[in-house]
Amino acid sequence: SVDVRDLAGRPVIIGGGIAGLMTALHLAPEPVLLLSRTPLGADASSTWAQGGLAASLGDDDDPALHLADTLAAGDGLCDRDVANRILQAAPGAIETLAGFGVRFDRTPEGTVLLGLEAAHSRRRIVHAGGDGSGREIMRALVAAVRSTPTIEVVEDFEARQLAVEDGKIAGVLASGPTGPVFFTTGRAVVATGGIGGLFLDSTNPLGSCGQGLALAARAGAVLADMEFIQFHPTALDGSNRPMTLISEAVRGEGATIVDETGRRFLDGLRGELAPRDIVARAVWKHLADGHRVFLDVREKPGPAFGRQFPTIASACGKAGIDPTRDPIPIRPAQHYHMGGVAVDLAGRTSVPGLWACGEVASTGLHGANRLASNSLIEAVVCARWVAESVAGSPGGGGKPAMAPRLLAPDPRPVRPLLSRALGVIRDGEGLKEAVRALLLLLQRRDMASDPAAVGLMIAAAALQRRESRGAHFRTDFPHHAALARRSQITLDAAIAAA
Ligand code: SIN
Repeated sequence: SVDVRDLAGRPVIIGGGIAGLMTALHLAPEPVLLLSRTPLGADASSTWAQGGLAASLGDDDDPALHLADTLAAGDGLCDRDVANRILQAAPGAIETLAGFGVRFDRTPEGTVLLGLEAAHSRRRIVHAGGDGSGREIMRALVAAVRSTPTIEVVEDFEARQLAVEDGKIAGVLASGPTGPVFFTTGRAVVATGGIGGLFLDSTNPLGSCGQGLALAARAGAVLADMEFIQFHPTALDGSNRPMTLISEAVRGEGATIVDETGRRFLDGLRGELAPRDIVARAVWKHLADGHRVFLDVREKPGPAFGRQFPTIASACGKAGIDPTRDPIPIRPAQHYHMGGVAVDLAGRTSVPGLWACGEVASTGLHGANRLASNSLIEAVVCARWVAESVAGSPGGGGKPAMAPRLLAPDPRPVRPLLSRALGVIRDGEGLKEAVRALLLLLQRRDMASDPAAVGLMIAAAALQRRESRGAHFRTDFPHHAALARRSQITLDAAIAAA
């Protein structure tokens, strides 16, 4: 049996990463309930973020330059107006975070220090603790949330279903240690993060397996650009799963990518600092050609490496590597999902009463390839607009769904399928095979069904995009189509197309 808890008009936020916490904080003093799958901060990808947040704070920088870099990296698919609005708001969002107690790295005079990452034409990465940016932001935001009496935090509860009545959100069914609970509400925000847990090799926590995408899709929401998955070129090639990320900021400080002969094989003007999709493909290809690939920090950043990047230095130490003596073995790993629940700038989805914020949402900022460190800033900027929109909307809920979905998602059968067909390099035959296998898994209606639903929408969107653009590269369609078009899909459409 399912307990029913009427929230008397309070909204529910699903997810305890930066997007969820910021939305809750911006809603205050309006009362809100925040559901977190784990103790706050314990398993959020936000906590693992190394590089930082991109904001045009430097004397030589402005939002127009940040916009130009974002559009170039996005390979023709960014929504220019959306990107412009978000990037204009980025410097203010850094101040907002500092106001919540985030201690950014600063000069002795108090000026925020700015790092460089690939495809940025200026130093504009605001960071904390060297490479511990996510950890510091989460520390401050968790503390702020815990000391805000109007935010009720329910930990160890995972949302399993969004109830929809008359086409609108009617409540959230969640499962936790005391059993299933139906929270009656007419307003829900999904802020559940990404999909790395659907891949064998990812830099994300294993628990990030697209739950918010499944919730929204089963509620009938439209999803956008699902085929665009970012692979980070420099994950430590060791036995750790999830894989250890070696931040792009290390290349920003001069580290080079070399093969076993010491040769820098990245072509083109920008070399190691080319957009992430280009570097990831080049590394992938070099590995496929039988080489080994390394990140060499010995000359630059050199002896400063351990001080500038303490988290990475410690992870290398645990893997038995001393980067000041030996180059770090690397290879690409799944890192970020550009696609997600289609939203406008207020985070509104196509389902009334449902909003999305953070990685699970697709605003159009990232296009076909996200510019480094544009995601945390997007979450922080958009959380304010989401909160304003939620606050201004009616809140009553309805009844639990007739057939409650209570199965915990099990992504394991999906991982090999997505890893094989939806990696750095794709082709039509592989995608068709994945679509067939994912449909069968979905139809089993067991614990793999939700992860399979997410995988199916990704594979179907990738099959329908008969071109290569940004992070989506198909050997059977290696060029751009004449027109750059964002894609949209629903779960019903993906099933019908399979
Ligand atoms: C990194 O530190 O390389 C990751 C930054 C990002 O993914 O935006």
